[in-house]
Amino acid sequence: MIKVAVLGYGTIGAGVVEVLQKNADSIEKKAGERIEVKRILDLRDFPGDPNADLVVHDYNIIKEDEEIKIVVECMGGLEPAYTFVKTALLQGRSVATSNKELVAKHGAELIAIARAKNANFLFEASVGGGIPIIRPLTQCLTADVIEEISGILNGTTNYMLTKMENEGMAFDEVLKDAQAKGYAELHPEADIEGYDACRKIAILTSLAYGKQVDFEDIHTEGITNITAEDIRYAQAMHSSIKLLGKSWTADGKLYAMVCPMLLDNSHPLAGVHDVFNAIFVHGNMVDDTMFYGKGAGKLPTASAVAADVVDCVKHSGKNIKIIWDSEKLTLSDFGGFERRFFVRMPAGTSEEAIEKAFGPVEMVSVEGLDEKAFVTGMMKENDYNKAAEELGNIINMIRLD
Ligand code: HSE
Repeated sequence: MIKVAVLGYGTIGAGVVEVLQKNADSIEKKAGERIEVKRILDLRDFPGDPNADLVVHDYNIIKEDEEIKIVVECMGGLEPAYTFVKTALLQGRSVATSNKELVAKHGAELIAIARAKNANFLFEASVGGGIPIIRPLTQCLTADVIEEISGILNGTTNYMLTKMENEGMAFDEVLKDAQAKGYAELHPEADIEGYDACRKIAILTSLAYGKQVDFEDIHTEGITNITAEDIRYAQAMHSSIKLLGKSWTADGKLYAMVCPMLLDNSHPLAGVHDVFNAIFVHGNMVDDTMFYGKGAGKLPTASAVAADVVDCVKHSGKNIKIIWDSEKLTLSDFGGFERRFFVRMPAGTSEEAIEKAFGPVEMVSVEGLDEKAFVTGMMKENDYNKAAEELGNIINMIRLD
């Protein structure tokens, strides 16, 4: 019997306990041992909950309990999660976590401690919820040089953009709906400003290249500027607007960014709706691969955490080697990278002035919207910025992928 402690009895923590208890028999067959949740750490009490007796409020009770071999961290945030996880690893325990903030910031260090202690630090659920993507990157695709990762990495914003697209709902209304469904982070900025997606692409990029990519270095824009009008233009262009976390290599340079992008409806990521996430990975040998599933929500995320617990049991006393060194990987300035831009300007702007600033453009019109909207040719981001500044009055700009 392997005894486990779960830190945090919120949505995900409660989900992990539910998965481990409901599927206990089938999990036992796969892990080779029975797994039992012995303690749950939370500041709150849960009267009437079937696991109320397992709840403790003091981490020291878990720390000093030598029967506990695996710690599951679902508290979120950096502290006290970091201190508790590091303490557990230094004690030689294995840890499974869903906490992308923790992994993005301290992943390299925690992986190194786990290795030194012949234990494991596993974090499949930290990116893409229930979608297997960490193992594919660290195990199945290691023969490839990864040339691109493009992901719909945030379920809340994808749910919101889908609702805005299908039902014409207003931004605030869809945000409340997503929060009520348990998809959103505690502070909505983490989702809608792209911070959550930023940490996730930082984790994936660090794993793809085996070195530290600091999330602070990744240019990040959220979806707060996306309006019902943008969605109508996108529909007129047979495209969808998706919040993408991307990293890619070109001419030996590595770039990364998070921003809303216009995807032609033929793009595989354009068909990813609602709370679903998808991660497109291009390797130089395997070519295109895509990983798809529920990227947020209680049981999908808990399923990935519980599978990490099973792996910790299967590899008891043996470290699963994950290459992610603390040496920093420097990102290149994407100002020199060429792409096309969709731009909206006031109706009074002359097409001559537009073409003078941006070069030849394709005009886009939507019935009832009295504006000048257009798609530029391929141009460098720096040149776009210069032209936009020169002309002024840009209502909105969305990059084309
Ligand atoms: N708030 C996150 C999302 C939860 O919506 O994707 C999963 O990380």
